[in-house]
Amino acid sequence: MTDHAVFLGKSNNPQFLDLKYANRHGLIAGATGTGKTVTLQIIAEGLSQAGVPVFVSDVKGDLTGISQPVKIKDFLTKRADVVGLDPYEPTGFPVCLWDLYGKQGHPIRATVTEMGPLLLSRLLGLNDTQEGVLTLAFRLADDEGLLLLDLKDLRALLVEVANRAKELSAEYGHVSRASVGAIQRRLLTLEEQGADNFFGEPALDLYDFLKTDENGAGIINILAADKLMQTPKLYATFLLWLLSELFEELPEIGDPEKPKLVFFFDEAHLLFDEAPKALLDKVEQVVRLIRSKGVGVFFVSQNPLDVPDSVSSQLGNRVQHALRAFTPREQRVVKAAAETFRPNPDFKTLDVITELGIGEALTSTLLKKGIPGIVQQTLIRPPASRMGPITKKERTEIINASSMSDKYDEMRDRESAYEILQKRAERIAREEEKARQREEKSRSKKTNSRSSSRRTTRRRSNRQTVSEAAFKTAARTLARELVRGVLGSLKRR
Ligand SMILES: Nc1ncnc2c1ncn2[C@@H]1O[C@H](COP(=O)(O)OP(=O)(O)OP(=O)(O)O)[C@@H](O)[C@H]1O
Ligand SMILES: [Mg+2]
Repeated sequence: MTDHAVFLGKSNNPQFLDLKYANRHGLIAGATGTGKTVTLQIIAEGLSQAGVPVFVSDVKGDLTGISQPVKIKDFLTKRADVVGLDPYEPTGFPVCLWDLYGKQGHPIRATVTEMGPLLLSRLLGLNDTQEGVLTLAFRLADDEGLLLLDLKDLRALLVEVANRAKELSAEYGHVSRASVGAIQRRLLTLEEQGADNFFGEPALDLYDFLKTDENGAGIINILAADKLMQTPKLYATFLLWLLSELFEELPEIGDPEKPKLVFFFDEAHLLFDEAPKALLDKVEQVVRLIRSKGVGVFFVSQNPLDVPDSVSSQLGNRVQHALRAFTPREQRVVKAAAETFRPNPDFKTLDVITELGIGEALTSTLLKKGIPGIVQQTLIRPPASRMGPITKKERTEIINASSMSDKYDEMRDRESAYEILQKRAERIAREEEKARQREEKSRSKKTNSRSSSRRTTRRRSNRQTVSEAAFKTAARTLARELVRGVLGSLKRR
């Protein structure tokens, strides 16, 4: 390993990922069991060693072992010898563990406002009409200074939209109550999937992903994604949100000597499955532009064609593990994968892809001036850290020792807008109730009890509107200046 490149392994010559071009993105592909995760692991090790922080989603729970030194085995020392890794030193790397559900790591939260209508629509699986209504709701929230923190806030906003459907239709375009109802039902499903954990405060400070330890090693941020994967939309949307936030928050730095962060997106096909064109365009745009913020994005996927052309063509560093080619469809994939490489006169790319051993890959990285290197058949180096998961005990120790515990583990103990609003709403409701009682008292002499009970029912439904109005007023005074970002999320200035 050198301080300007990550050692990947050996073909005829040692192969490196040049840190200067690590922000030109990458792809790690290959059939199951061919060595994708270990390749990701050794790249993450190299980046960390070079002082580059890493973010990685851990889909199978087998990446946390990167925090522990590997137990040396024969096949590993042999491999180290073959690739010329000397000395081969077992090393644990500094990690920070994260979990959207707050169980296997520090919770990651975002506000509804930060998520924005486009990503939320995707998350909720809304159709165009419903997305239009949600976008309108966000615009209303912007215009009226409503700060949307958690799903309760969003629900309140939707009630407001439904109540004012007529008025809003005139101002913003057609709002159908049916669409609002559909969004509300989807929201319920989302909450049942546990997404309400994710919306709220303290929201993630992205700079906490950009840390190095006291020795200057880049922290490897590992997101537990095993449970998250059961709700693929939440998984994909969350990672996309993270990317877009990084893009929004980080300053422009051009092409740095080494990246500020490298982001590994495992099971990348989930990002693109059934993604509407508008979203794909945004992904492409974010991937293209995030480079100049010094962020490298590496997609990890079984099938290299899972990544659409417009994104794939931006992935300069490629590690292609073995693919199978039994069916015509698989053969097409192999052919397409082979065509992405600059040919090597020594072998036929097409043939080699299907013959690669485990932990062996076709590699091509960007060389001087960002030109892609000729494809190489590379034996990937063995990891210095453990392959596979950490124990429960090791996990607890890491979480407890982390400085992020204090910052994120507990919901921040301060009054949020929602609570303030609730209080105001209750106060207003109390005052209203008092007024109603006074009114009732004076009327009770004249009217019978049946009509008064009818009035109570009507009052109750009015009360909700009043509390929503209070919500609005209070939020207006709290809201900071918000500027729409590239993904329709909101940027704090
Ligand atoms: N570079 C390597 N050095 C040593 N062993 C390796 C290497 N790459 C792969 N292996 C071996 O192959 C096994 C499978 O690799 P890995 O878990 O990376 O596959 P994968 O492509 O991620 O599979 P899946 O698609 O199922 O997640 C590892 O557990 C390890 O034993
Ligand atoms: Mg894997």
